[in-house]
Amino acid sequence: MKKVITYGTFDLLHEGHLKLLQRAKALGDYLIVGVTSDSFDRGRGKLNVKNNVLERVASVKATGYADEIIIEDYLGQKIDDIQRFDVDVFAIGSDWEGKFDYLKEYCEVVYLPRTEGISSTMLRERQDA
Ligand code: CTP
Repeated sequence: MKKVITYGTFDLLHEGHLKLLQRAKALGDYLIVGVTSDSFDRGRGKLNVKNNVLERVASVKATGYADEIIIEDYLGQKIDDIQRFDVDVFAIGSDWEGKFDYLKEYCEVVYLPRTEGISSTMLRERQDA
């Protein structure tokens, strides 16, 4: 069984997230999705996230693409997760191109095309306007 893992905040879940999850799932048989905890996001300067972690997990679950959902709560967790779950493929959007090459030591790393014209930032700005 080929295991794929991906991570994100998934705030105000949108079409770009759906496509990313669909493409990640298609890379293997079992998709693990790491959803950032509220404190992890605050710690990396993402201060304006609208949905709390429980809401974001529920949105990811509702897509039907995730076989398992975990919480990303600390720096360096990705390596632990890849080893713990015996992951074959780490997948992430192309906005991160090159940033996760250090994981190639542990599994295959795939950068998936990012959907143009939509982001959580854009939706948050619209809400705040
Ligand atoms: N993603 C994507 N296409 C988009 C937006 C996001 O493929 N238009 C992907 C990202 O590359 C990442 C995953 O979805 O692999 C989760 O991204 P996340 O940071 O939660 O979403 P963004 O919309 O990029 O959020 P923000 O604007 O806060 O950066």
